[in-house]
Amino acid sequence: MGTTPDTVWHKRLIFATSNPHKLYEVRSISPPGLEIVGLKEIGFLGELPETRDTVEGNSLQKASHLWQLYGFPCFAEDTGLFVDALPGEPGVYSARYAGKNATYQENINKLLSKLAGVENRRAHFKTVITYYDRGEYVQFTGVTEGEITISPRGSSGFGYDPVFVPAGSSKTYAEMTLEEKNAFSHRKKSFDAFANFLFQNLV
Ligand code: IMP
Repeated sequence: MGTTPDTVWHKRLIFATSNPHKLYEVRSISPPGLEIVGLKEIGFLGELPETRDTVEGNSLQKASHLWQLYGFPCFAEDTGLFVDALPGEPGVYSARYAGKNATYQENINKLLSKLAGVENRRAHFKTVITYYDRGEYVQFTGVTEGEITISPRGSSGFGYDPVFVPAGSSKTYAEMTLEEKNAFSHRKKSFDAFANFLFQNLV
């Protein structure tokens, strides 16, 4: 009897996120057999700590915190947008750039106003996924270079998607379908490396 990868490989992993956009994106690219479960689905309604000053540190902090609470194999991801003309910004503060409970729009407004009149619009997104199990972890990084637009364009996606044009495209992430975004996406690059690791190590 023939078998296919999805019949021989089934893994259920907790994704340490409450962000529905991230969950949706990661599910859209996860291979058959890998079941991704979000925090809400396991009844975790709190907030994971995110107090480090690098995306690597925050990603590890979220994953290790969750593992200590539940003891399940899990992964976390942390993402930052890094703008060349504003060294390090918004970076690890991408979610709260314009203040603690800032909306995506407020963060975009702050970024565009800081870049008003600035010619160098180069920026990159960086995602770091941390897989954590039994006190050990591995990290996977995805980077996408691009540019910040003069004004927002498009309505898909989330966060800074309306102002980020990845290199090789003329559209912002927010003007793309999810499939198009995935062809460039920082998140997909890190997730592909992670899925490959899982496949190599857990099959
Ligand atoms: P965190 O990884 O949850 O700390 O995310 C930081 C912030 O970066 C989010 O709140 C978004 O504003 C932004 N962000 C993360 N991923 C993306 C993306 O794929 N597109 C646009 N913005 C993003």
